Amino acid sequence: MGVVTTVSAAVKAALTIGGISKLSFIPVMLAAMAYFNYELLDPESRPFNQKTLKEEYDFIIIGGGSAGSVLANRLSEVEGWNVLLLEAGGHETDISDVPLLSLYLHKSKLDWKYRPQPQDSACQAMIDKRCIWTKGKVLGGSSVLNTMLYVRGNKRDFDQWESFGNPGWGYKDVLPYFKKSQDQRNPYLARNTKHHATGGYLTVQDSPFNTPIGASFLQAGEEMGYEIVDINGDQQTGYAWFQFTMRRGTRCSAAKAFLRPVRLRRNLHVALFSHVTKILIDKEKKRAYGVELMRYGSKQVVYAKREVILSAGAVGSPQILMLSGVGPAQHLQEVGIDVIHDSPGVGKNLQDHIAVGGLVFRVDYPISLLFQRTININAALRYAITEDGPLTSNIGLEVVAFINTKYANATEDWPDIEFMMDSASIPSDVQVKRAHGVTDEFYNEVYGDIIGTDVYGIFPMMLRPKSRGFIKLRSNNPFDYPLMYHNYLTHPDDVGVLREGVKAAIAVSETKAMKRLGARFHSKPLPNCKHLPLYTDEYWDCYIRQYTMSIYHLSCTNKMGPASDPMAVVDPQLRVYGIEGLRVIDASIMPAVTNGNINAPTIMIAEKGSDMIKEAWLPKIKRRKRKTKRSLKCNMSNPLFVKKSQNIICSKER
Ligand SMILES: Cc1cc2nc3c(=O)[nH]c(=O)nc-3n(C[C@H](O)[C@H](O)[C@H](O)COP(=O)(O)OP(=O)(O)OC[C@H]3O[C@@H](n4cnc5c(N)ncnc54)[C@H](O)[C@@H]3O)c2cc1C
Ligand SMILES: *[C@@H]1O[C@H](CO)[C@@H](O)[C@H](O)[C@H]1NC(C)=O
Repeated sequence: MGVVTTVSAAVKAALTIGGISKLSFIPVMLAAMAYFNYELLDPESRPFNQKTLKEEYDFIIIGGGSAGSVLANRLSEVEGWNVLLLEAGGHETDISDVPLLSLYLHKSKLDWKYRPQPQDSACQAMIDKRCIWTKGKVLGGSSVLNTMLYVRGNKRDFDQWESFGNPGWGYKDVLPYFKKSQDQRNPYLARNTKHHATGGYLTVQDSPFNTPIGASFLQAGEEMGYEIVDINGDQQTGYAWFQFTMRRGTRCSAAKAFLRPVRLRRNLHVALFSHVTKILIDKEKKRAYGVELMRYGSKQVVYAKREVILSAGAVGSPQILMLSGVGPAQHLQEVGIDVIHDSPGVGKNLQDHIAVGGLVFRVDYPISLLFQRTININAALRYAITEDGPLTSNIGLEVVAFINTKYANATEDWPDIEFMMDSASIPSDVQVKRAHGVTDEFYNEVYGDIIGTDVYGIFPMMLRPKSRGFIKLRSNNPFDYPLMYHNYLTHPDDVGVLREGVKAAIAVSETKAMKRLGARFHSKPLPNCKHLPLYTDEYWDCYIRQYTMSIYHLSCTNKMGPASDPMAVVDPQLRVYGIEGLRVIDASIMPAVTNGNINAPTIMIAEKGSDMIKEAWLPKIKRRKRKTKRSLKCNMSNPLFVKKSQNIICSKER
């Protein structure tokens, strides 16, 4: 009976996700899941949402995304602390669990649907010439919408952070925190205990499903002289199968990893549909003492005894800081906000990774991940019963490569391009166009002839951009989205790196390994670049400004730095300069974006930030830490173990 109601609720939830064109398979899939794998729809596992809030908590965390989920877990490990997590969105759904369907979450109600201002430098093929900034508005944040790629970055990234004046953030210091979260499910990698760990909350696994194109990518890499490496190990340069934050074939979001197992802790309140409008700061004492929020149509105030922690992401966190009077003074005055602390760096230094979309390669065999061919009852049954099959594919992303263009120093092992190599591409499903916001004219002209044919894609992503964007307030209304300026490709070096990345991606199709599949570049000239001689640097420079894809790695808008840096917003303990009782802990504190996808580093930042808070407030940290660690062991060894004294409940492992 419970199953039936959950299924129908889930079907309803599925139907409310915007833009799904092939709905017919979804009820079948859900029925199969319910029948064969009741746990997946365990009604206890989803709904938790604190109805009435207390007046005061020890800690208030704003934003339940990748970082906020970790913080809520780690801080509530301390029995004596009452912790409140405030999240603007609701729960993830059965659809958001399915790796193949992640593109259907873009523009759904789980997405803030941000769009930066139109600019000439990039995204010219998009509607209104505006890029798309998908961002999670849901418990688990962007980790509920992402493609789950598990990439830690390069050790030099963290050593560089440290060299900027951030002691304690070097690679040797952060590696233990990457490992602390991790439950590595690949037994071969798990044996490398220098870099990997088992038993953590965050499950990391290989994809259960790959096409023959994936194997060919790896062969092509070897042919081009690259090694097959563990990109999260000693050497980043090379080719590898991607690893994913997945658990038994479904998404392991930060909420699933870090919040569900502790949802019954009595000292943790998770409040959904709670839109924070302001942090309350005592103007005299310059101390944060609470937050203001809107929930179910009414305004509420909650007080923080110890600290307010801002984890609303790289758009939300600077926005909330500015709304609360912390930001560039002149700008705040312009929009009518009372300045509490002039912090010129808030919202500045915005970094993102962009890739060139639309590099499509045709193949001669029916081996690509064509969504229409793939999504059927058999696939649904495999997803539900054997936890594999095409629905467990992350939209075809199979192989990763870190390569050096002529702009990088190859002996340094600090590559400047990441290839995301995909057994599907733009014409493989109509939702790709919608998610990326590409105009119909562009799409039809360039891809009209090859829709639904066998193709693969390589998305060259520029790793260390020199262009910097920014965010500022549109008004003092907390519900207005801020004005966002991406400034992509405004630094000439960025154009060079991305152009060379495109050439390198095309070179892959010339290898024997890819030629065996009949690989050929879909060379249709782009509408806006037709006037330029094909395949010249000028042509490619035009090309990369058309189908420019944000990889949604918005970051660095509240950068961490030493007190001597006027643009630093937080100190190396992640405390906001000028205000007491307030930290920022999320992707916005990165001084420079990491060399890879940024979910794992964001989770690392939150693990490290949690320990900093404990160190600040718990003098006997050493003893307590050991205790907590022991109790967490139950999570792995005895799945149904409940340790009441610690108030830690180990969830049934899925
Ligand atoms: C489509 C997509 C694909 C991606 N793919 C990958 C990938 O494959 N691998 C990878 O490593 N990274 C990927 N990323 C990036 C990665 O997921 C994010 O960088 C990371 O999740 C950011 O974590 P965060 O905690 O900083 O912010 P978020 O996870 O975005 O969390 C911020 C939270 O704060 C909430 N919030 C914001 N404002 C308020 C407010 N006023 N009141 C209350 N709550 C608020 C939001 O709703 C959200 O839940 C992807 C991102 C997207 C969007
Ligand atoms: C490349 O890096 C190596 C190692 O750091 C260094 O010794 C060398 O001088 C660098 N080369 C160039 C051209 O910068």
